[in-house]
Amino acid sequence: MIDISGKITTQRTAIAGATIKVSAESLSAIKDNSVPKGDVFATAKAAGLFAVKNTCYALPHCHPISVDFTGFRFSTVEKKSIINIECEVTSIARTGCEMEALHGVSVAALTVYDMLKPIDKSIEILSVRLIEKRGGKSDYLDKFKKDLSAAVVVASDSISQGTKEDKAGKAIVQKLERLSIKVADYCVIPDEVKIIRKRTEGYCNEGIDIVLITGGTGLSPRDATPEAIRPLIEREVPGIMEAARAYGQQRTPFAMLSRGIAGMKDRTLIITMPGSTRGASETMDALFPFILHVFRVTDMNFRHGKKKG
Ligand code: MTE
Repeated sequence: MIDISGKITTQRTAIAGATIKVSAESLSAIKDNSVPKGDVFATAKAAGLFAVKNTCYALPHCHPISVDFTGFRFSTVEKKSIINIECEVTSIARTGCEMEALHGVSVAALTVYDMLKPIDKSIEILSVRLIEKRGGKSDYLDKFKKDLSAAVVVASDSISQGTKEDKAGKAIVQKLERLSIKVADYCVIPDEVKIIRKRTEGYCNEGIDIVLITGGTGLSPRDATPEAIRPLIEREVPGIMEAARAYGQQRTPFAMLSRGIAGMKDRTLIITMPGSTRGASETMDALFPFILHVFRVTDMNFRHGKKKG
């Protein structure tokens, strides 16, 4: 199984469908409840429900996920002698639930087949397919403007003096590039309030969309990034760092030690992140691409004339 431990949990839904061709006699027997093996749809539903919950045991690469809802819909098209089954699954999980829906609908279709085969020699499962899938990361990726620019600032005395190599800033750059966000600038500066503030303000004035500052959010005497940034922020967004710390806390108890803040200065989103490579990477994983919704919202505000840019 692939490692999904870095993903955030989101609510996901998947709907899968199956189509079965049966004889006209089978359809009438189902209607009259005269199939010798019993109630076809009730039995298929029960089998499908078990199958959905057992997906991770049947399919080797499927992760065990919490199945929060499963529903089955059975319908018939008499003219074509067809039975349609739909299986809908909802889950709050790190990975999608389409395999659960597909497994559920497949087993329900096989159950229909098994129950009708003594009385129907022409029965055939015509198709099993995914109808719809919602709630994954890709749902969030499509929803922001595509030409975003970012600046990455590494605030560290030791890195700026050349006694330590920067890894956190480079990890952030790599993740931004993977999201197709243009990295307009990358710089290393010392833990100096005035320098951090001036550099960040410069990026805001240049119209950079996102300024990501790594380092100086902790409690050592020279850590001063939040103090440098706070006066610049016009609208703080506490939820951003709450989300980052909550995500971090599930991975290391030290996440609570970052005093990072985030918010908007005019149309620029400023985020201050921990200085460790792991802290910076985890903060990126917690926030992106979801955070980019900010630009959708601010874009709409500008378009509707709420604020002039
Ligand atoms: N957050 C996450 N997600 N992962 C981490 O490894 N490191 C913590 C914390 N936040 C960490 C994290 C540690 S050890 C410290 S000291 C603080 O961030 C502050 O780091 P900074 O002073 O380098 O900004």
